[in-house]
Amino acid sequence: MAGQQFGDYQNEIYFDGLFGVQPTLPMTFADLETRARAALSPSVWSYVAGGAGDERTQRANASAFEGWGLVPRMMVGARQRDLTVDLFGLRLPSPLFLAPIGVIGLCAQDGHGDLAAARAAARTGVPMVASTLSVDPMEQVADRLGDTPGLFQLYTPTDRALAESLVRRAEGAGFRGIVITLDTWLTGWRPRDLATGNFPQLRGHALANYTSDPVFRARLAKTPEEDPRAAVLEWAGVFGNPLTWDDLPWLRSLTDLPLVLKGICHPEDVRRARDGGVDAVYCSNHGGRQADGGLPALDALPGVVEAADGLPVLFDSGVRTGADVVKALALGATAVGVGRPYAYGLALGGEDGVVHVLRSLLAEADLLMAVDGYPALADLRADGALRRL
Ligand code: FNR
Repeated sequence: MAGQQFGDYQNEIYFDGLFGVQPTLPMTFADLETRARAALSPSVWSYVAGGAGDERTQRANASAFEGWGLVPRMMVGARQRDLTVDLFGLRLPSPLFLAPIGVIGLCAQDGHGDLAAARAAARTGVPMVASTLSVDPMEQVADRLGDTPGLFQLYTPTDRALAESLVRRAEGAGFRGIVITLDTWLTGWRPRDLATGNFPQLRGHALANYTSDPVFRARLAKTPEEDPRAAVLEWAGVFGNPLTWDDLPWLRSLTDLPLVLKGICHPEDVRRARDGGVDAVYCSNHGGRQADGGLPALDALPGVVEAADGLPVLFDSGVRTGADVVKALALGATAVGVGRPYAYGLALGGEDGVVHVLRSLLAEADLLMAVDGYPALADLRADGALRRL
């Protein structure tokens, strides 16, 4: 089955140009970043754009893509490209997904970015991984997704009953999988935020999934509405659970939905995840926000794919262009997560801004596959498609 031809987005833009209509949203990541900085408050900007340490890993994530090049093939006649993907039974129109971003709510001018991102997912068919840390509760986020599948990302709290409650709610809300983030049971050293003493959740932001949860509420002497400060302190105490592999059987037992472990970069960890019965692994270093001095996530991807041995591999960290998407796919990613770029699109254009970022990434990826003669994702993964520069 041939997928949608995402490259057609450029025709829309050029034809609009014939009538004097210029794009109002940026066409490059650099422009997106510059304009988002001006659109966001300094504290939200520093939280979203910043990373761990001196941000070397964060920069390396993006520059690692420059170390690979696609080899053009001619006379392929790649008139139709097929970017469709099967992810644990979900038939997706493209290999993109929205990576979970806590505080995405704050990136929208109206403060409801979780809902805007979900509506953008509904319009594009690009699945959203909804963060535990959201301004609006997960049920409302799920409601905006329409027919597009959503996955719920769980930050596993120390209270197992609370973890179970969050997962039950995600199931009830219609999410199609649970993504457990392993690399953020505490916050990495983030100088930009430390310099201004700014940590949004401690200021009470993006805690709706907790304050709306019956198990969380039962832990409080007064309701979060009566005593918001006590709720924040309770949240800080319960947020992060330093899980071990001994916890995996319990995590697996939480749900029959597909289970994904996020933050996996070492082949041995892939094997342990596989042995524990997960449905996919998610190769990511959290966009360099958690630990500096590490490898770019892209460098870990081939080893993860090999160890996964057919198990789906989700990937994010440093994806900025359609070319980056194609390279991650060529290295074996099943699906590729967009992080900061959609936060910036949201800051500039709300729901439309996210749709623009996603359509632009897909158009560039699709046109690259057309020009370079790789009509299907399987062609990209064949030997010799990608070379180290
Ligand atoms: C994140 N990320 C993240 N991951 C997660 O599992 N749960 C979360 O709540 C968040 N929150 C979050 C907030 C912000 C502001 C950012 C930028 C990122 C990590 C995210 O899912 C993804 O791994 C990175 O964004 C990928 O890196 P790039 O491509 O955005 O640099």
